[in-house]
Amino acid sequence: MSNYHIKNFPEYFHEYRKSVRNPELFWEEIAEEHFLWRKKWDNVLSWDFAKPEVKWFEGSKLNITENCIDRHLFTKGDKTAILFEPNDPKEPATHISYKELHARVNQMANVLKSKGIKKGDRVCIYLPMIPELAVSLLACARIGAIHSVVFAGFSANALATRINDSDCKMVLTSDGSYRGVKTIDLKGIVDEALESCSTVESVLVVKRIQSEINMKDGRDFWLEPLLAGASTDCEPEIMDAEDPLFILYTSGSTGKPKGMVHSTAGYMVYTAYTFKNVFQYRDSDVYWCTADIGWITGHSYIVYGPLANGATTVMFEGVPSYPDFGRFWEIVEKHKINQFYTAPTAIRALAKEGVQHVEQHDLSSIKVLGTVGEPINEEAWHWYDDNVGKKKAPIVDTWWQTETGGILITPIPFCTPTKPTYATLPFLGIQPALMDENGQEIKGNQAEGRLCIKFPWPSMARTIWGNHQRYKDTYFSAFENKYFTGDGALRDEVGYYRITGRVDDVIIVSGHNMGTAPIEDAINEHPAVAESAIVGFPHEVKGNALYGYVTLKETGESRNHDNLRKEINQMITEQIGPIAKLDKIQFTAGLPKTRSGKIMRRILRKIASNDTSNLGDTSTLLNPEVVQDIMDNVL
Ligand code: WTA
Repeated sequence: MSNYHIKNFPEYFHEYRKSVRNPELFWEEIAEEHFLWRKKWDNVLSWDFAKPEVKWFEGSKLNITENCIDRHLFTKGDKTAILFEPNDPKEPATHISYKELHARVNQMANVLKSKGIKKGDRVCIYLPMIPELAVSLLACARIGAIHSVVFAGFSANALATRINDSDCKMVLTSDGSYRGVKTIDLKGIVDEALESCSTVESVLVVKRIQSEINMKDGRDFWLEPLLAGASTDCEPEIMDAEDPLFILYTSGSTGKPKGMVHSTAGYMVYTAYTFKNVFQYRDSDVYWCTADIGWITGHSYIVYGPLANGATTVMFEGVPSYPDFGRFWEIVEKHKINQFYTAPTAIRALAKEGVQHVEQHDLSSIKVLGTVGEPINEEAWHWYDDNVGKKKAPIVDTWWQTETGGILITPIPFCTPTKPTYATLPFLGIQPALMDENGQEIKGNQAEGRLCIKFPWPSMARTIWGNHQRYKDTYFSAFENKYFTGDGALRDEVGYYRITGRVDDVIIVSGHNMGTAPIEDAINEHPAVAESAIVGFPHEVKGNALYGYVTLKETGESRNHDNLRKEINQMITEQIGPIAKLDKIQFTAGLPKTRSGKIMRRILRKIASNDTSNLGDTSTLLNPEVVQDIMDNVL
């Protein structure tokens, strides 16, 4: 029998050994005992990383919403499934029970059906953190439609790219969103995006901020009256294990964003099992992950993982700084949060404001603290441990990716002794490897290399929407027969992993993945710009910030450079969104290039980080003279 709930360190080792020696048996037992299947699988796993092709629980039939909602109705119908905390602390929180969630998801599913959405159709969801967001993911899953959530901070352009990439038939949005004291005109952004999208037939609009918006006849519909007239019964569509559940876009180092495709059964099993163990969730606990559902963390650890365990999961609409920097801790106290999961950038931002905000609140309910999204520095780790966890709540530093679907390297609280800045040990079933520059695996402890995973796990992404070749090239070509993460890592003397950061041109800013190519493309559209290169540099709060080197077409460009800087950031905001804005922009006479014309970002990165003692080999440069010039004018 498999052990669904790991409670101590020996148990972890025992189960880990089982999970590696016989992965099929290990996952089969977990799947069999803890989920609802309409039909059992014929085969637990088939895989070939050369193709690449991975299939889990093939032949089985299920619907993930039956697992996340229906099966809890009998035992937990009145338990709060979603606890919604609005932006404005004066607006009361809402408790949505499993029974209510069931009714609301079914109503929404019926509305989608009435607008012609069927199994396999793609539905774009561009909503703020309000209950309708979670409900719409589940409504899609109920009828087998594939959801593609786009974070509601992306620009019209970025939204249009994502809608078009997967030919979405519908967009779900709201009249607008609250963000602290500000409101954002989401519907206006959708309208602008749809000017360049031909596949969208209907737009369903949630009323949230009561603003005056444009409704296009025959295309746009208010959701509320449709929901009110919809039945609360909706038979779940019975899905195959490998049917896509959703697409979620993530930035790559080159080209347009990658639509990572996640499957149904494997994703469900892995997110549920990791949620239970990584947060040591118990039935009466209230769990809060502060991420936005627009990112993978929200998909897996606000919606699917918690609900599959019948948990109470909090959705917070606002920001940590509104009405003041004590908001997170006020919410923890108010709802007696037991597990709190956030990003290092939020911890650093709050630490900067002083401990008084924390001290004003009773945080004694907290049992487990989590972090995700970027490496956590030692100072932030200790601040979190001392002031939030009061040295009593273990910190789980969880490493994973949009592509991995669920947490892969993490401590298990009360089992794994933690170590600041270390994600520690692989989760059950995960087989990491560190690779050297020659493509060889580095065995033994005390090693540093590129982080790969040697064996499939149930929630890994199956492909990139519409571009399987790119999936293969990006993740399965750098090292034979291994999934390459794009991260570097080191392994200490006891085998603990520490993630050192990206080894490609993805830069993590405030926990968000930023690809350099789309930002450079946006800048290059400015009429005065000849070319540009973006690199990251260390930033106290954001982890990394963006540094842009920009070469102008005419060196004697007469415009004031500060204006140009503003215009460039404006272009980036329009093309991608404010999260991709540059902190520093240096105008340069040229960019260092290799003889084959490739920009040497390594050098630019070092200059931007003030680390110029050893620039490495510059002899292969076509134009070594620009390096000195760039160094002399660094910002
Ligand atoms: C980084 C977020 C260090 C890493 C779930 C990864 C981390 C990228 C950690 C994926 C961590 C995530 N420690 N680095 N605990 N967690 N990362 O796709 O570089 O938004 O490759 O998924 O974030 O970001 P994504």
